[in-house]
Amino acid sequence: MIRSELDPTAADHLGRRAAMLAKLADLDAEHAKAVAGGGAKYVERHRARGKLLARERVELLVDPDSPFLELSPLAAWGSDFPVGASVVTGIGVVEGVECLISASDPTVRGGASNPWTLRKSLRASDIALRNRLPFINLVESGGADLPTQKEIFIPGGRIFRDLTRMSAAGIPTIALVFGNSTAGGAYVPGLSDHVVMVRERAKVFLGGPPLVKMATGEESDDESLGGAEMHARTSGLADCLALDEHDALRIGRRIVRSLNWRKRGVQPLPVREPAYPAEELLGIVPEDLRIPFDPREVIARIVDGSEFEEFKPVYGTSLVTGWATLHGYPVGILANARGVLFSEESQKATQFIQLADQSRTPLLFLQNTTGYMVGKEYEQGGIIKHGAMMINAVSNSTVPHLTVVMGASYGAGNYGMCGRAYDPRFLFSWPSAKSAVMGPAQLAGVLSIVGRASAQARGQVYDEEADAAMRAMVEAQIEAESLPFFLSGRLYDDGVIDPRDTRTVLGMCLSAINSAPVPEAAGFGVFRP
Ligand code: COA
Repeated sequence: MIRSELDPTAADHLGRRAAMLAKLADLDAEHAKAVAGGGAKYVERHRARGKLLARERVELLVDPDSPFLELSPLAAWGSDFPVGASVVTGIGVVEGVECLISASDPTVRGGASNPWTLRKSLRASDIALRNRLPFINLVESGGADLPTQKEIFIPGGRIFRDLTRMSAAGIPTIALVFGNSTAGGAYVPGLSDHVVMVRERAKVFLGGPPLVKMATGEESDDESLGGAEMHARTSGLADCLALDEHDALRIGRRIVRSLNWRKRGVQPLPVREPAYPAEELLGIVPEDLRIPFDPREVIARIVDGSEFEEFKPVYGTSLVTGWATLHGYPVGILANARGVLFSEESQKATQFIQLADQSRTPLLFLQNTTGYMVGKEYEQGGIIKHGAMMINAVSNSTVPHLTVVMGASYGAGNYGMCGRAYDPRFLFSWPSAKSAVMGPAQLAGVLSIVGRASAQARGQVYDEEADAAMRAMVEAQIEAESLPFFLSGRLYDDGVIDPRDTRTVLGMCLSAINSAPVPEAAGFGVFRP
């Protein structure tokens, strides 16, 4: 059992806690924007039409009082589009079955899909496919956001391709249609295994009455072109005709019940709570990420019984590796201890990842790294070879990976510690996270050195004043682009979470992962030891 050295009454702990709480208040404010959807005017209009909001639909669909793990709630943050990207996605339990749920938010530009909606939706279908989660679409959308069609029309075809690939992989797809689902949107019910449409509400057609009039001269109306009654009685696109929204959600639950769904992964062992309170996770990460912290303090507050069987504890000590169980699921953990990764850490990580791959144990990466060590001694010692080995091991290990960015995530450290590009099944950030190719001051400094050398080569005098202004500007820009809301807005993680929720979130992810069978082991390619 990890013996915590943390003193929750110490001044530095309290200072870190206060800073984290301030960041969490900011996070709450950003989440509130997503929940507010299109704002009061559009929410009231939606309600006046007798309709439920996207989140109310989700809440009525999932089992009463069951948790819903919302994904990418900050999508579109920092863009011209509203936070949340006009769709709600997440993992919820319906009739005891973990499902991926996606609900368009019709209060935001008619629920139309903008470039961020597309990225968020594609991420949701990717999660459903890889983890074998039944997919439920709550449809009411104006289709493509027309002014940004160039960003979405061509790549957006993947939404439909993924739906049919899920079906081919035996992953049930269910569409509950609450309203508009026209043009390309019509292929969502068109390609779903099960389709429910709400009477007098669903409108599913390739072209609405004005388009039909333009194309063929035919006079028509919404109901005869794409109403729920027509699709249930005539075209056969709807399997069920729902009387109203509540009825559609009830039928959706009934469909899931009759799937006779069985998870194919491992069964969890009995769950034991950690010996230390999650509350103390608030006071661990320093505001200044250059100050190291012991990740065992984090591990002690997220794993079962705070029990951690450390692997190679006295070798490559900047990286902590070892075995634990989390909500009853065995995991191998890799956590940065002092930021920098040296050759020893890379070799230790490579061996540990291979061991996890042999025993088919999922890996959890807890990131706080400034990257691989630079300098003559380290280059001569083979830091590139050793970092490459670690990146090879991360890339080619086939067990599920989970990543939490607690603090710094800079340079190739982001890669070796299973950043977004390495396809972890899930990746969450803490509000204290920062990620970029390097730190803002270092990046501005490098630009300055390069600029100075280039001026010298041209025989020009270097403008020191312009250099200082450039450095300040670049530093501010890189700092802003390193922050978690910005990165979450770009879908570089699956959400920014309260550190206190880490255990719960990871437990839900591990459970969802085990909806799919444990993947087969594969080779690692060539290592250069
Ligand atoms: N792209 C961009 N903006 C859209 C949009 C779209 N596809 N659909 C709706 N909007 C905007 C509207 O212009 C309106 O903006 P405003 O309030 O600033 O004027 C806002 O979203 C709400 O739309 P509104 O028509 O008032 O809402 P509604 O609930 O009465 O109707 C729709 C919703 C989706 C039925 C209707 O907007 C519509 O038919 N949109 C076009 C659908 C379409 O043909 N899409 C192409 C698919 S490829």
